[in-house]
Amino acid sequence: MQDQVISWFDENGRDLPWRAPEFTPWGALVSEFMLQQTPVARVVPKLTQWLARWATPADLAVDSPGEAVRMWDKLGYPRRALWLHACAVAIVEKFDGNVPETVDALLTLPGVGPYTARAIAVFVFGAHEPVVDTNIRRVIARHEHGQSDQDHPNTARDLADMAALLPEPSQSPRFNQAVMELGALVCTARAPRCEVCPIASSCAWRSAGYPDTGARGVPKQARYEGSDRQARGAVLNVLREAAHPVSRDEIDECWSDAPQRDRAVASLLRDGLIVLVDDEVLALP
Ligand code: ADE
Repeated sequence: MQDQVISWFDENGRDLPWRAPEFTPWGALVSEFMLQQTPVARVVPKLTQWLARWATPADLAVDSPGEAVRMWDKLGYPRRALWLHACAVAIVEKFDGNVPETVDALLTLPGVGPYTARAIAVFVFGAHEPVVDTNIRRVIARHEHGQSDQDHPNTARDLADMAALLPEPSQSPRFNQAVMELGALVCTARAPRCEVCPIASSCAWRSAGYPDTGARGVPKQARYEGSDRQARGAVLNVLREAAHPVSRDEIDECWSDAPQRDRAVASLLRDGLIVLVDDEVLALP
């Protein structure tokens, strides 16, 4: 199935910025952070803006974490901006300003987990390693195990499954990328397009008659409207848009539910996304 997936990818893979040969390792790291919880279409413009301002880890490391949070804007889950800033600092301090190349070294960076470490080692530096993200998990669940969706994520098992499928080393980065793209474009969660799938004929889920084995253990994203997450976003936005520290009174205007607003402020302080500069005055870090 490896050759079929790779040929399909060569014909159908999207032309995304991080796939350009001249794209830098730092650019790839920034894109992986953004892609962790934000769709491609929203990531691309922000990524361009980010790299125009901070083309290297050293450029970002000398700026404040608050500027990273401000630039992060509406991508959501803004702790990623703080981690990316901390990553830039660690890359400068520990790796001479160059993104490290091995999974183990990458895993020492703030906010870099098993997925991101492997994605960089493989896609950027050509490591012969498996990569596993949600899309790859789903393709494996269906094609290899005949299940409609992935079971509880189990990193060791999923990596072993993908490792068993890897082709020869020179092809493995492209294969990993190709399976990911197949999951994103064809073997999708809700409306798989089996009629155009290059590996439909060897798919265990298809030959079993597409049983609905359930999406066990796949958490649904919580509602955003009226949530604590939305309250945090509103508070953070006041600070992002102000060029100066902001008083509690000004923040009070952005969210009417006072207990929820207070919870948002407290949790943003706890996460280090905002800081107290004076008794009742808040700012980006
Ligand atoms: N290529 C490399 N990483 C990717 C990702 N996270 N999403 C989509 N395409 C990618």
